[in-house]
Amino acid sequence: MDKKGPAKGVEMSDLTVWNNAAIGIKEDTVVWLGSTEEASILEATQTIDAKGRLVTPGLVEPHTHLVFGGSREREMALKQQGVPYLEILKQGGGILSTVRATRATSYGDLLEKALFHLDRMATYGITTVEAKSGYGLDRETELKQLRVAKEANEKHPLDIVSTFLGAHAIPPEYKENPEAFLNEMVEILDEIKQEELAEFVDIFTETGVFSVPESRRYLMKAKEKGFGLKIHADEIDPLGGTELAVELGAVSGDHLAVASDEGIEKLANSDTIGVILPGTSFYLGKEDYGRAREMIDAGAAIAISTDFNPGSSVTENLQLIMSIAALKLKLSPEEIWHAVTVNAAYAIGRGDVAGTIAVGRKADIVLWDAPNYLYIPYHYGVNHTNTVIKNGKVIYERPAIR
Ligand code: NIG
Ligand code: FE
Repeated sequence: MDKKGPAKGVEMSDLTVWNNAAIGIKEDTVVWLGSTEEASILEATQTIDAKGRLVTPGLVEPHTHLVFGGSREREMALKQQGVPYLEILKQGGGILSTVRATRATSYGDLLEKALFHLDRMATYGITTVEAKSGYGLDRETELKQLRVAKEANEKHPLDIVSTFLGAHAIPPEYKENPEAFLNEMVEILDEIKQEELAEFVDIFTETGVFSVPESRRYLMKAKEKGFGLKIHADEIDPLGGTELAVELGAVSGDHLAVASDEGIEKLANSDTIGVILPGTSFYLGKEDYGRAREMIDAGAAIAISTDFNPGSSVTENLQLIMSIAALKLKLSPEEIWHAVTVNAAYAIGRGDVAGTIAVGRKADIVLWDAPNYLYIPYHYGVNHTNTVIKNGKVIYERPAIR
């Protein structure tokens, strides 16, 4: 159970399952694991009877755009008319519309909104979450988003891991000069480091956004300054971002729906984790959901995520994504559970603290209204959590109607 490193390739099929298990928790930490019979020796002050329910580690959500202003429900009609995602962006909508809204929203309102979304994530069984900036595209607003994420981490029971995504789109004021914009983003990296506002730096490598050479130069500067790297890569056009993620030793390459054969091969032979976001394919109406199956078969480590954001995947429901991963990516239930626990934790640098139930680790645990682990991806679109425990405290219980 407490193996070091993410599960790669066939290891993702090897899920540890205990029947009649009992977990001893002291304060915020797991202190004992055994069977229900053996548990009678423990002197407990409080007991939660799981009544035969499935019990798992808290889910780890490795890729979200948590902090943003406004919403984009009015773009749904454009999507229905078939206007492509990158075309909406080119016309100044999409990400740029959320940039305008985020710049115009106060710190306090952004914080309230982020806490609201975190509450909802918690109800779905998520106990650790990655959060990106990227809707400021200027110094002031990017720092505002990152400070909101930092304060949300202090105020909310969930743990937040922060990523600076200043290179998310080219703002209109730099339309003709992306390189100058990237230089401006590099200039704030020292401040981000000093204030401990982010651990990772991310970039959107895509047609009409940032090229592979621009991304390489930018990420290398971030690496020199001591940040871990992530890349939004090979989402819509196959530009070779998967290869770049591996070349730079990124902790994760995210999306990778149209990764090349060479990219998959390199990923499989690397420590970079593929964070696959099938909710985005679903929401943007793609027929092809990507190559996660081939990645695992080649020996890669995969995590899955909602990509929660106001444009390309508007949901906090990671359980729904587990079903989409089963139905569209053809992942097995065992692979899916690795992808939302241990591998997701490694994809955000938390492999040693989150994603596994083990003695000595923080007690992040979910009790499900489900008889076994196959059931969650199978019964889709609803919330199956019964009780969510974060750091040893119950933070959510399914409300009783009768
Ligand atoms: O991961 N691909 C780029 N960024 C986000 C979408 C952001 C948005 O549309 O607001 C993503 O899909
Ligand atoms: Fe994203």
